[in-house]
Amino acid sequence: MQIRAIVPDDHAALFALWRRTPGIQLRAEDEFAPFCRYLARNPQLSLLVEAEHVPIASLLVGHDGRRGYLQHLVVDTPWRGRGLASALLDEALARLAALGVCKSHVFVLRDAAEAMAFWQVQGDWGEREDIAVFSIRSEPA
Ligand SMILES: CC(C)(COP(=O)(O)OP(=O)(O)OC[C@H]1O[C@@H](n2cnc3c(N)ncnc32)[C@H](O)[C@@H]1OP(=O)(O)O)[C@@H](O)C(=O)NCCC(=O)NCCS
Repeated sequence: MQIRAIVPDDHAALFALWRRTPGIQLRAEDEFAPFCRYLARNPQLSLLVEAEHVPIASLLVGHDGRRGYLQHLVVDTPWRGRGLASALLDEALARLAALGVCKSHVFVLRDAAEAMAFWQVQGDWGEREDIAVFSIRSEPA
């Protein structure tokens, strides 16, 4: 099993992985066109692991030049507990650091119990109590 960068052709298989994973919320941005725009804007950063040519784990990775942002960290159920999420995180942070982006964030829904439990035991990651996130959604121009 190897980690490699996600390419547009991976969309259908990744979409299926995300859809069958409880706790992962699909958004308009997960459709093919915005997925491709995201990959083009953040080349070689989003990652997957595949087994026999089928994606079994994913991590979407982007940055704004200062901070990295991680989304859709997913490991397919039969493959959990083997260090795949850790391996994806390590590789993503190394790729961001190579670009000079040395601090990253992940936003986790507080009612996503499994995701919260995972992030709370990641020793290098600190849960922020000092920041509130405000969000707005605009109509496309
Ligand atoms: C969370 C998830 C990505 C973990 O994937 P994984 O490949 O099983 O994780 P790893 O094997 O790399 O585990 C890394 C560490 O986290 C711990 N861990 C893994 N899942 C955990 C969980 N649900 N609760 C608490 N700790 C967990 C492991 O024990 C391991 O600790 P260690 O390094 O001290 O041994 C996977 O369970 C998943 O896809 N869940 C559904 C989607 C989800 O919630 N994603 C997070 C979105 S923000």
